[in-house]
Amino acid sequence: MALHQATASAPVNIACIKYWGKRDTKLILPTNSSLSVTLDQDHLRSTTTSRADPSFERDRLWLNGVEEEIKDGGRTATCIAELKRLRREEVEDKQPNEPKLSTYAVHIASYNNFPTAAGLASSASGFAALVSSLAQLYSLPVSPSTLSLIARQGSGSACRSLYGGFVAWDQGSNPTGIDSLAREVAPQSHWPDIHALICVVSDDKKGTSSTSGMQRTVETSELLQHRINHVVPQRLKAIEEAILKKDFDSFAQITMADSNQFHAVALDTEPPIFYLNDVSRAIIALIVEYNRVSVAAGRGRRAAYTYDAGPNAVIYTLKENVKEIVELVVKYFPQREGSFKDVFELFAGVDVAATEGKVVEGFNEAVAKKFEVGAVKGLIHTRVGDGPRALGKEESLLGANGLPK
Ligand code: DP6
Repeated sequence: MALHQATASAPVNIACIKYWGKRDTKLILPTNSSLSVTLDQDHLRSTTTSRADPSFERDRLWLNGVEEEIKDGGRTATCIAELKRLRREEVEDKQPNEPKLSTYAVHIASYNNFPTAAGLASSASGFAALVSSLAQLYSLPVSPSTLSLIARQGSGSACRSLYGGFVAWDQGSNPTGIDSLAREVAPQSHWPDIHALICVVSDDKKGTSSTSGMQRTVETSELLQHRINHVVPQRLKAIEEAILKKDFDSFAQITMADSNQFHAVALDTEPPIFYLNDVSRAIIALIVEYNRVSVAAGRGRRAAYTYDAGPNAVIYTLKENVKEIVELVVKYFPQREGSFKDVFELFAGVDVAATEGKVVEGFNEAVAKKFEVGAVKGLIHTRVGDGPRALGKEESLLGANGLPK
């Protein structure tokens, strides 16, 4: 009997204009549009295998080998139901000879190649990989934008991982959510020199989740209203222009301003939410000083920090500056032998453990203190990447028995 199975991988994305707030919590419709850079799956990815089989009794899901309950009416169940509906309407109803896969239960196994301890959100790449593998399994004749409508209902930010390069999520206005989808602003090939350095910051406390945090902000923050109505629309337009013109100085200025405002609306929430810690703030000070020196030398801003719902910094820069920025970070945040560079090839060409770190000429070293080893647990160097990939049989995560390998 034919094996009905597909495997796909999907990338992580990190927003420059942040999504924070829902106008519909069930459909996951945002209160503002957002924009992100898709990171390279060669480094960070979720991989998912889906199989449909008449012998399976119910839909089942495993994350990193551990079974997760698929709750009725929950986000995962919604995504699976939507994809089965598309299979029926777009394939089986139109071509009666096609197998009725929409009537079979599915087994889904998903794996993230990045350590959970890195504190990187996996919901965006995870839902994008789940949706991509099922779309492939079902041979759905639909665009990434259509799939983004479904991934959005898994996790808002996931809709942006359906494209590579530079991606906008247009908030839309229709109450059904039909126009709240991802759009490619520019492909990876447009500006491949955009690199990212992720500084993994130690975090002992259990932070507020994005889902509950943003809802509290919607309910209590007046500043959020100002952001939605008077700031984001202009910023989105300006950053899209900066990307199209490859104007890094403007790209950096807008990205940092939007990260700052996101953390300002978090603080404006009742009770207030703090995602940044002393290490995060010290990294901001280093990047601000690095840019001050660069602007004074007539070279414009050359680095941009951005922070999501946690203390990790993502620093965007052009390829040519990565080495200098790694040296800067390592100077203030000494690395121990074998940090994440064992797991992730640091292609900046700097042996992090061997370097003492250094600052560029004219840099005011007093802007931050030197931290202890371990304050920044590791550095992950990556770059702008492509959208979801279809993988071959040999990459399957499910064994012959239909359970994770
Ligand atoms: C700060 O997409 O994780 O990373 O839609 O509730 O699943 P849900 O939230 P999620 O929120 C991401 C928030 C953010 C900003 C961003 O990625 O745009």
